[in-house]
Amino acid sequence: MNSERIGPVIKGTGSALPRTRVSNAELAKKVDTSDDWIVERTGIKFRHIAQKDETTSTLATEAARKALDAADMSADDIDLIVLATATPDQTFPATATIVQNELGCNGCVAFDVAAVCSGFLYALSVAESMIRSGAAKNAIVIGAETFSRILDWEDRATCVLFGDGAGAIILSAEEGNSGILTTKLHADGAHNQMLYVDGGAGTTGTVGKLRMRGREVFRHAVTNLSSVLIEAMEAAGTTIDDVDWVVPHQANARILDATAKKLSLDSGKVIKTVDQHANTSAASVPLALDTAIRDGRIKRGDLLILEAMGGGFTWGASVIRY
Ligand code: UT7
Repeated sequence: MNSERIGPVIKGTGSALPRTRVSNAELAKKVDTSDDWIVERTGIKFRHIAQKDETTSTLATEAARKALDAADMSADDIDLIVLATATPDQTFPATATIVQNELGCNGCVAFDVAAVCSGFLYALSVAESMIRSGAAKNAIVIGAETFSRILDWEDRATCVLFGDGAGAIILSAEEGNSGILTTKLHADGAHNQMLYVDGGAGTTGTVGKLRMRGREVFRHAVTNLSSVLIEAMEAAGTTIDDVDWVVPHQANARILDATAKKLSLDSGKVIKTVDQHANTSAASVPLALDTAIRDGRIKRGDLLILEAMGGGFTWGASVIRY
């Protein structure tokens, strides 16, 4: 089989959100902030926050089940689970193995990938490579987070920005011209202190809380995302005019607008869910993708670019014929 023609194709998508939705006004009762500030600086209106019984694995399992249904497949068909998260249920074992057990496909390959907000792009790339090499045929690729558990609720500059959720896709080997055309990834560890968690199993022995220098992250995000989008489009032999939809990491509506402007991209082609979900880190791209597929905006045959940037820094983009 020609490796150019093997896909991997997206057979189905799913997502899951915690039951509890919190508005900016509700948050402003506990944190020194306002709906006006949050909307003007970020575009965020709501975020979903996990309750005690909701974890990264429960959200991931629900999203994976919905993706299997959408693909008309069962857990028995799956031979690979790659789960991107920075908020695993436990330090180990991998949350992917908890999801595997819940789905009942024990025995297949299952592991986590850590690249924070770019995690889904990294997980997608791993699954893509394993499918292309023949090591796997049908994969569940998941981005799932409960960032509310690593937020410092005394720090208004960060706690208003994030939410919890999960998104999943079924990625399969399939002959044809659809599927992932290319994925480009990058990392630059020199920027560790701009966005990090001040704890860890191997240092403090605690989970830690999220710390961010927002302005610097913002500046790097627009630069890195624009350049990786151009790099990915060039590698796929496409131009911005060929693209039907950009499905970006949902950190801040202003980052989405600034990146679109830099690329002369019609902002009407950018899927925005940041107003409803806030920043759900590794979950944000598959959550946005599933939302736009289910509401009918993204259709079979559309050319998509998925992109993200996050702590590390890490960043990446994937060009996909859906
Ligand atoms: O997912 C990984 C990628 N993450 C990102 O891409 C996030 C990137 N950064 C951002 O989105 C923005 O930098 C923020 C939304 C985090 C902040 O927006 P900003 O326009 O850069 O504001 P700032 O941090 O410069 O703060 C401006 C002012 C400050 O007050 P002074 O010093 O000007 O008096 C802050 O104290 O806004 C104040 N402020 C707040 N006020 C009300 C900061 N947070 C809040 C708040 N409510 N929640």
